Amino acid sequence: MRTESDIKQNSLINVSQQIPSVSADLQAGCDMSNLRSMFFVVGFLVYLISQGAAEPCFLAAKGSPTFPANFSFGVATAAYQIEGGWNADGKGPSIWDDFTHKNPDKIRDKSSGDVAADSYHRFDQDLQALKELKVDHYRFSIAWSRIYPTGDISSKNQKGIDYYNNVIDKLIANRIEPVVTMFHYDLPSEVQKIGGFANSLLVNQFVVYAIELFENYGDRVKTWITFNEPYDYCQNGYGDASYPPQVYAPGVADYLCIDNTLKAHAATYHSYKSRFAKTQGGRLGITLDSRFFFSRTNDEDIVDRGMQYGLGILAHPIFSKSGGYPDIMIMDIGANSQKEGRIRSRLPSFKNKWRDIVRGSADFLGLNYYSSRYIKRASKPNGVSPSWERDMDCDTSIDSNWLRAKSDWLYCVPEGLEGILKFIRDEYDNVEVMITENGWSDDGELIDDNRIRYLRSHLQAVLNAINDGCKISAYTHWSLIDNFEWLKGYTEKFGLYAVNMSSPNRERTAKKSAGYYKQIIESRKIPSIF
Ligand code: NOJ
Repeated sequence: MRTESDIKQNSLINVSQQIPSVSADLQAGCDMSNLRSMFFVVGFLVYLISQGAAEPCFLAAKGSPTFPANFSFGVATAAYQIEGGWNADGKGPSIWDDFTHKNPDKIRDKSSGDVAADSYHRFDQDLQALKELKVDHYRFSIAWSRIYPTGDISSKNQKGIDYYNNVIDKLIANRIEPVVTMFHYDLPSEVQKIGGFANSLLVNQFVVYAIELFENYGDRVKTWITFNEPYDYCQNGYGDASYPPQVYAPGVADYLCIDNTLKAHAATYHSYKSRFAKTQGGRLGITLDSRFFFSRTNDEDIVDRGMQYGLGILAHPIFSKSGGYPDIMIMDIGANSQKEGRIRSRLPSFKNKWRDIVRGSADFLGLNYYSSRYIKRASKPNGVSPSWERDMDCDTSIDSNWLRAKSDWLYCVPEGLEGILKFIRDEYDNVEVMITENGWSDDGELIDDNRIRYLRSHLQAVLNAINDGCKISAYTHWSLIDNFEWLKGYTEKFGLYAVNMSSPNRERTAKKSAGYYKQIIESRKIPSIF
């Protein structure tokens, strides 16, 4: 669907593109009619600028200009992407250590997270940046193989536990709330040896690890996130095999990975609630990522189809009233599996009580939103058979007016964030949403006006959604510092702070966007000028 603001924005851009030729006419001669047109043009330009509509990556304000007093602003990072110290103080290897060491050619600049921004040894530099920004919270992840080098309780590593104790203590001493992700892609290699997310043993192993975290940090950590972006690590790690552990079993192991993730998440939630929540008083959720979809033909069914295959596969089992996978996926994948001659669906069915255990197993939904797409039914079969793409059976496209980041998949579409927040409000009974990631990549320039545009328009989308009744408690910008961007290495930078990668001290330098974000945090309003 082309939204009203899309149409408005496109038509305004077209008008503004005609302006240079009008002003050229004005220079040629200055009779009265030219003067009148000059006033008209200048007036119209002032109007456009005051609306901000001539700019790319812009979203108009609707309603109150101020964020609620208890709204939390923060920034995010993840262990493998910033810490370095890959084998320091007894840490065990993770699948990303193994992958980058064995396949340097798969990383664009042949780099790894071995040293990265060296936050393992330089957390104080990160803290300095967090204090400068005046954030309310800091979302970081714990490397499972620092706590349990083999993934298992038998290998408990006190030095790894101490590292995060220090991080948490220093955050709290500076009145910054720690928001802790337990798993952000870096599975201990030993857990992978027995199948990783394709083996249901993972469920119990994860719960034991999570309990270790509650016991050690739960007195100070009040916001827990079990898993980060299961859609991505399952599809890339167990579907198309572009990420470690490179299991190529599309349409089968990726669904199994999702299933075991959901069970591990729910089992962790219930053990937190039954053993820790009363005394520790914290909350636990999961971080899901999704694009929003628009239809050029206003086809609501196709938009819904896209949303169910993207967000719904993980959100429906946890946040819907009925639980279980989205009906449309159960039907499609069941029918496709039958056509393929299978005796049961490739999409696992929650057996025994699992459907009820998973349903309702979160205090909030963590949302990572970056971009959107147009969607339509596929004109020819997509991807290989079987696969998630083939089951979904849709084509997606972009609008050529969307501003693109350094990352080839990342276009600035703030109306998509507003759209997805309203979808969540309507579909999942207005569950509380914490935006746990949202950010923009570039080459690392310190004057990063496009990051500011992205930040401004996406915070406007959040504010518009709040004004429209969505329950949103937090916004977290990705990322605090430039870091290891997975297959892209250090070639795509997302930080509000640059990191000097050629210096052993890895100095952090604030970009222009850091100052802009700080202004928002201090004033609780979005400045239109930067
Ligand atoms: C989401 C992931 O959680 C994070 O690790 C990644 O760097 C960003 N997307 C940007 O691609």
